[in-house]
Amino acid sequence: MTTEPKKEGALDTLLSGYRLTQLVHVAAKLGVPDQLALRPQTVDELALAVGANVDALHRVLRALDSVGIFTQDASGKFSLTEEGSRLRSDAVDSMRGPAITYGEAWWWQAWGGLYDAVRTGVTAFDTVHGVDLFSYLSREPQAASLFDGVMHGMTTRVAAAVAARYDFSAARTLLDIGGGQGALAAAILRANPQMSALLFDRPTVVERADKRLQELGIADRCKLVPGDFFVSVPGGADIVTLKDIIHDWDDERARAILSNIRRSMAGTAKLLLIERLIPPGNAPSYGKLVDVTMLVLTGGRERTEDEYRALLGAAGFTIRSVMSVSGETSLIEAEPT
Ligand SMILES: C[S@@+](CC[C@H](N)C(=O)[O-])C[C@H]1O[C@@H](n2cnc3c(N)ncnc32)[C@H](O)[C@@H]1O
Repeated sequence: MTTEPKKEGALDTLLSGYRLTQLVHVAAKLGVPDQLALRPQTVDELALAVGANVDALHRVLRALDSVGIFTQDASGKFSLTEEGSRLRSDAVDSMRGPAITYGEAWWWQAWGGLYDAVRTGVTAFDTVHGVDLFSYLSREPQAASLFDGVMHGMTTRVAAAVAARYDFSAARTLLDIGGGQGALAAAILRANPQMSALLFDRPTVVERADKRLQELGIADRCKLVPGDFFVSVPGGADIVTLKDIIHDWDDERARAILSNIRRSMAGTAKLLLIERLIPPGNAPSYGKLVDVTMLVLTGGRERTEDEYRALLGAAGFTIRSVMSVSGETSLIEAEPT
């Protein structure tokens, strides 16, 4: 039998995931990438600027150098690699928000509950924190602001593609349910000057959305409506959008939301679901990781097209078309049956 040590393989990299997430989190939260965007710096300069212990920061930067986030020159100065530049707060599609969020205790600890979630089927976040994610966010403004920022960034990346892919020209009014900080509504309104919108979300979310709508330049055409989609949603819109909403919930809760929408909707209105679809078969798919994220965070799930067809059918909708929007994200157009 050989006693040669094995070369590092895929499993070793996978098992390092927890370390790498925290390393990137710490650098991003300290603001190291923003400091390095000013100029290459020694660890002493950086530690002073971001308020860190010199030796500990050096070890973190050295580890991140070895995985391609920073690079250190012969004089000892660190600078950003191209990948590391994505952590700058002013980067296009900045990853700083996700990097901070995924390592924060409230998010990170929920993942530590996956073992129990798999044994019991109970959402890990609820078990670990004793409260569901959205109730937690309602009472923790800092966490809520991070969460809304991550969603806003993710949605901004696909919103223009949704606005370009779907023909909104005959529509006057949009209702974006669980619309967060308005990224999707903004892209649709910008591309369709004839439209106005209602942005419907939990009261603590819409309270903070006003400033964002001003920045997005749609405040005069977008009304904020606080509410709970398990109770009721506003009626009267030509198009109702739900982006990354149904995947947050199990089938029973998802049906309850869709049935409330169906009750308030005119027969001629259209419902657009913007979600990742799990591909048939065993094809590799990032959505399968997002699916487990739903098991951890909200108790929802990612679904196949057939599962969406069944869910929508049970709530009184028929799918008219399914179009690919961007990456794995699809737009499912449905109408009242
Ligand atoms: C995953 S985020 C999606 C946000 C937005 N649609 C996007 O894609 O950026 C889910 C949204 O649903 C909202 N939400 C959760 N529970 C809700 C409820 N009971 N009534 C209304 N909105 C709710 C959250 O506040 C959050 O903004």
